Formats: sequence, C-alpha cells, structure tokens
Amino acid sequence: MQSLSQRNLVIIGQGYVGLPLAMAAVDAGWTVVGLDNSEKRVEALNSAKSPVEDVSNTKLEAVIKSKKYKASTDFREIEKAQVVTICVPTPLNDLRQPDLTALQNATKSAAPFLADGTLLVSESTSYPGTLRDVVIPIVEKYRNSGQKNLFFAVAPERVNPGDQKWNQKNTPRLVGGIDSNSHEIAMDFYSSICNKPVAVSTPEVAEAAKLLENTFRLVNIGLVNEFTKLCDLAGLNVNEVISAAETKPYGFLPFRPGIGVGGHCIPVDPLYLTWWASNMNSSAPIVELADQVNLEMHKFVATKALSLIKDNKANARILLLGVAYKPGVADTRETPVAYLRDYLKTLGHDVQWFDPFIYVWDGFLPVPKLIDFDVAILAVNQPGIDLNQILSQGIPILDCTNSYANIDGVTTL
Ligand SMILES: NC(=O)c1ccc[n+]([C@@H]2O[C@H](COP(=O)([O-])OP(=O)(O)OC[C@H]3O[C@@H](n4cnc5c(N)ncnc54)[C@H](O)[C@@H]3O)[C@@H](O)[C@H]2O)c1
Repeated sequence: MQSLSQRNLVIIGQGYVGLPLAMAAVDAGWTVVGLDNSEKRVEALNSAKSPVEDVSNTKLEAVIKSKKYKASTDFREIEKAQVVTICVPTPLNDLRQPDLTALQNATKSAAPFLADGTLLVSESTSYPGTLRDVVIPIVEKYRNSGQKNLFFAVAPERVNPGDQKWNQKNTPRLVGGIDSNSHEIAMDFYSSICNKPVAVSTPEVAEAAKLLENTFRLVNIGLVNEFTKLCDLAGLNVNEVISAAETKPYGFLPFRPGIGVGGHCIPVDPLYLTWWASNMNSSAPIVELADQVNLEMHKFVATKALSLIKDNKANARILLLGVAYKPGVADTRETPVAYLRDYLKTLGHDVQWFDPFIYVWDGFLPVPKLIDFDVAILAVNQPGIDLNQILSQGIPILDCTNSYANIDGVTTL
C-alpha cells in the first residue's frame, strides 16, 4: 500500500474549507501547497493576509516562515504530493441546480500531474455519485500513462466558520474510499489530522450523509419558521414555546426562527438533494417545501417590522443590523438579509444597513450614523452591534435573533 511518510499535501481551493484544512495539516506535520486559481488570493495568502476569519494573519505568517505552507496557482505542484484534496465551491446555477464547474475544472487541471500512487480526495459537498461518475471519469480522461495506481475517496468537510469549539481536529470526519486500498490510505491521511475519522462503506454514503446533515437543518428551520407564523397569528411567543418544548429531555432539538438561511451550505446543499431525487425520477417534497418557507420568511419579517412603525408611514427609513449570513463571519454569500433588503425597497422604503464585520455589501457602503430611523431590524446578532444607541433614540427594534427578549422597545419574532 502507498506510504504517506513523505507528508506532502496539495489542497485545491484556499477558501473557508481549504485554508483551515491547510493549517490543520501543517500542525499535523504535513508540508502543504494551497492551490487556487485566483492569483489575487494566492498573492494575499503568500503575503500572510488571510481571507477567512478562522485563520489569523499571524498563523499564516508563521506557517509561511516555517516553509511548511505556501500558496500557488501552479498545478505542477501536485507532482510532489502523496495526497491531493479538492475544496472548491459547489454552488447552484441560475436554475438552482448543482453547478459542478469548479469541481470539474479543478479535477481536469489536477489530473495530468497526479503522481503514481497519489490519493485524490474530494471534500467539496455534492450529490451521491459525484466522485464515481464525475471526478474519476475526468481523471481517467486526462491522466498520463505513467499513473499506474491512483486512489480516490470522499471526505466531506464539516467546518463551521466562526466556531470556537469544533475544528478540523475534534470534528469526526466521514471517509469513503472507492476501493479498499483507497479507503485505507484515506483513513490513514485523515487519522493524521483528525481525532476521529469515521469509515463508511462507499463514497456515496459519505456524500449522502453530508446532504442529510445540512438538509436536516434546512427542514427544521423551515418547520420552526412556519410554526412562528402560526404562533404569531395566535398571539403566542414562539421562542417561549420552543424553550418550553426544549425542556423535554429526549426526542426534541430546538431550532430558532429567523429571516431565512444563508451561507454556502444550508441554502445550497438541500437543492443538491432535490436534484439527486429528480435525477432518480423521484422527488423530495418536504425539502422543497422547507426551502420555500425559508425563502418567503423575509416577507413575514418585513410585515412585522413595518407594524412597529407609528402611523404606518410610507417611505420609512429602515435600518438593517447584521447582514452577514451568520454572526462572527464577514461572509454575505446567500445571506437572507439581501431578500429582506430588496423586498423592503420594492415597497418603497429607504433601507440602510450596518454590520461591524462588513465594509461593502453588494457594492453599497454601510450607513455612517445609526440615527434617524423609523425602525431597526436586528437580522444577525453580529458581535459589536450596540442596540443601546438605537433604543436611546426611541427607535423600535425587531430582533429576529431572539437575543434581546424582554427589553423595552425590542420585539422578537
Ligand atoms: N464554507 C463552509 O462553511 C463549508 C462547510 C462545509 C463544506 N463546504 C463545502 O466546501 C466546498 C468549498 O467551499 P468554500 O466555502 O471553502 O468555498 P470558498 O469560495 O471559500 O473557497 C473556494 C476557493 O476555491 C478556489 N477555486 C475555485 N475554482 C477553482 C479551481 N478550478 N482551481 C483552483 N481553485 C479554485 C476559489 O478561488 C476559492 O478561493 C464547497 O463544496 C462547500 O459546499 C463549505
């Protein structure tokens, strides 16, 4: 079997997934080249400027100085690697269907340079069958004749950006190899960076489990958002109801309402699942409905916020507080706050925003002073947001995060 004693690793894609993985691998004794097709990103990384919150500039500087890490755009770096992992985006296209372009391109670029005996792992989230039916055929097409043995596995990334507790080391990692040799090498590799690699029987099980994990969240958030509207009609405080249900010691997990779902995973991965279902001439109606409920939630939030304005004023000045897709990150990808902003604007209101982590949002700057608003909506409880200065002006606040319950002037969902 292939030995991993040399410990040269190439990671394709140096974003929210690939860069923290690179740091964890360096800590575990690997020499890492982080490949990225963005020259700008590679330049920033080699100047110790981290694009993700979970990797500090200081950490980046230290690993570069130790010569254990560098970033590059040159796929020939792959020739020296025993392990290559792919961590590129797997978004949706305009039809809200899987867009595997980056994964296909990364595989195609890597294939000619894989040395004999290399393990290629896909960490990108995708539907079951992606390794077997998409990645491996591309490698077969573009590999060179010297590559007698190549090994393939799936190990879906579970990183949770901004999470202080769970990281590469202590989060169990699913590993599914395409054959027994691939599986053994992949388990060996992940044992070196993770306390608990979890063997599954096939790559498809690992791919499907990743979709189940994130779809579980989408569906439960959809359920609680739907339930929130019912509680609102009935005059019940949904958060009190959830806290009450949460006292049951088994069989219940609390999810909280909000504006919707955001980020690169929860709004996206379940649609890989629905596509997978339709590809098998089936469907996943529960998932589709939950997606719809979440996508409509901004309208409920808008109505509730507008109801807090005295005299039902038209052309209201509305402040959105927190526009990242979740607290602690500067990431606005798929943020549901964008739907709320656009909807309020179509109703004719003047919508401004502020987020201590974000300097420009969709080309617009934040409001310079948090004064003179008719209502403020706390969309995401971003650290550094001070509600006192809003409250002291008598501006009503709708808190969509349930962080400031029981405070005069603050209404929760
Ligand atoms: N962000 C998360 O919280 C998270 C968590 C778990 C899993 N994932 C999954 O991990 C994968 C990567 O997501 P991410 O958030 O790290 O993306 P990202 O956008 O933060 O980073 C991806 C990087 O890949 C680079 N890239 C794109 N195409 C490339 C190519 N052909 N060759 C080389 N580099 C290329 C981009 O320039 C970018 O720097 C996705 O499948 C995502 O669903 C993400």
